[in-house]
Formats: sequence, C-alpha cells, structure tokens
Amino acid sequence: MTAPTITLNNGLEIPQIGLGVFQTSPEDTERIVRYAIDEAGYRHIDGAKVYRNEEAVGRAVRASSIPREELFITTKLWNDDHGRDRALAAIDASLERLGMDYVDLYLVHWPLGDPAELAETWLAMEEILAAGKARSIGVSNHLPEHLETVLGVGTVVPAVNQIELHPNLQQLELRELDAAHGIVTESWSPLGGTARPGDPIRNAILANPVITGIAEAHGRSPAQVIIRWHVQNGLVVIPKTTHEDRAAQNIDVFDFELTETDLAAIAALENGVRVGPHPAEVR
Ligand code: A2P
Repeated sequence: MTAPTITLNNGLEIPQIGLGVFQTSPEDTERIVRYAIDEAGYRHIDGAKVYRNEEAVGRAVRASSIPREELFITTKLWNDDHGRDRALAAIDASLERLGMDYVDLYLVHWPLGDPAELAETWLAMEEILAAGKARSIGVSNHLPEHLETVLGVGTVVPAVNQIELHPNLQQLELRELDAAHGIVTESWSPLGGTARPGDPIRNAILANPVITGIAEAHGRSPAQVIIRWHVQNGLVVIPKTTHEDRAAQNIDVFDFELTETDLAAIAALENGVRVGPHPAEVR
C-alpha cells in the first residue's frame, strides 16, 4: 500500500502518510524504517536532528530496495541552530549524518521567542533551498505571529507547517491560516502522542469510545480510524510506531471511508488538550 500525494506550493509532491521516528532508538529506527519502505509501502519518513537517529534513517534508506529519489525525507533544524551561520552548518551536519545530498523537506522545528532571530533563520532556510540541500523548506509549531515573521521577511512561502494535531486538538484556525497562504498542514502526534503506561491524557484518544465505536463499525482499528480522519481532512500525517504490524496497519487506510456522521462525531472530540508543549512556551 502506498499513500497518495499532496502537491506542495512549489509543485513537489508529499506522500500523505509518513512514518514518524520521534522517540525511536537508532536500532529501532533502522529496523522500522527499512520495514516501512520495503514491506509496508511507505515513501515518506519524518525525522529530526533532535531525535538523534538521522544516521539510522540514512542506513535504512540505503539498504532499502527503493531509489532515494522515490522517497520523501524530512529533517528539522533544532533550537540551538537558529541564526544564519548555525543554520547553514546544521543542514550540512544533518546531510552528513543522513548520508544524503539533499532532504526533501527541511523544517524549522520550533520558532522560539525572538522574531529577529527567526527572520534570520528563515533567510538561511531560503539559502539552503537555493543551494539544493533541501528541495522544500517549511516550519513546525508556528503560530500566526511566527508565520507573519517568516512571510514578512522571506520570498519563499513555507511549504508546510507541522503542528500538534489530533481529534482532541484539531487546530481549525491555524489550518485555515496555513491554507490561506498555500501552506500544507502536517499533523504531529496524530494519534494523540506517545502512549505511556498510566498516562490518562496520552492514552485517551485511541481508547476513546467514539473512536473505538467507529472502528468497530468499519472493522478497522482505532488508529486506522484516526489516521483516516487526518487523510479525509486533507492533512499530511506522520504516525510513529516501532511495531511492524502497526506500521503496516497505519498506511492501510485507503480502502474505506468515514461517513459524515463519523466525521462529525470525531469533530466533537475537540477539547484543546495538548500532549506536547505550547509553541509560545518553547524558548
Ligand atoms: P508504539 O511505537 O509502541 O507502536 P503519535 O500520535 O505520536 O504518532 O503516537 C503514536 C503512539 O501510538 C505511539 O506511542 C505508538 O506506540 C502508538 N501506536 C502507533 N500506531 C499504533 C496502532 N496502529 N495501534 C496502537 N497504537 C499505535
């Protein structure tokens, strides 16, 4: 099963489902990325410098049977790499670790609190794009004021804004703003975040009776229902798992459809509860 693509504002295509490798050890990353590409049909891997597994992503991609140019690889500029000189060095270091000449998408991971610094970083992102080290550039965790800074200083509109987004935090306003600028919204923690034993918030969505009820009605898993919800909302979605069976299941969502009633029931699960930090608090 391969996922359909969405066209970015620069004409390039991004596969609508990618495998996220947040909180995944290098060993698990190498194994699950290889499986995802070779066995499950993934063509999109979402990584970051701060996940400390770029080398493993690179090894898995090289070992896979799919040519590099058919894959969509994302990595992200970490918080200590803001500013022109550090940003330019950061992409080189990421490419070195990945063992690649380019990434398909390079994102500013967090906007942080200094608009002047963010503006400088974004201009460096544009240099990185011009140098061919990233085929697309974008942002992550950007609120309206951060998008204003980036759009105000730059000549390139971010291709994506990757934000926390799941049935409890549907981000309607930010999605509308992204869309108004031609920015594709990507959902992180799409299933409600990394499950932790005994954590009522992070375990809540997959176990929510509305979700499990819809899952039962379609003969699908709760995760498939939530991923399908992202897909039908036109979002790019990057569920994380270290389990082969789950990786296969999470991309196997293109042969069923949620009804209008299902979509309305999931829309009603909005409660504003985040599983990750609020972008304004990350400095
Ligand atoms: P695991 O890696 O043990 O499979 P996110 O919302 O950040 O993508 O988090 C996904 C969380 O849900 C992870 O903790 C992951 O754990 C778990 N998960 C991923 N896919 C599935 C699935 N198909 N069924 C149940 N849990 C899943």
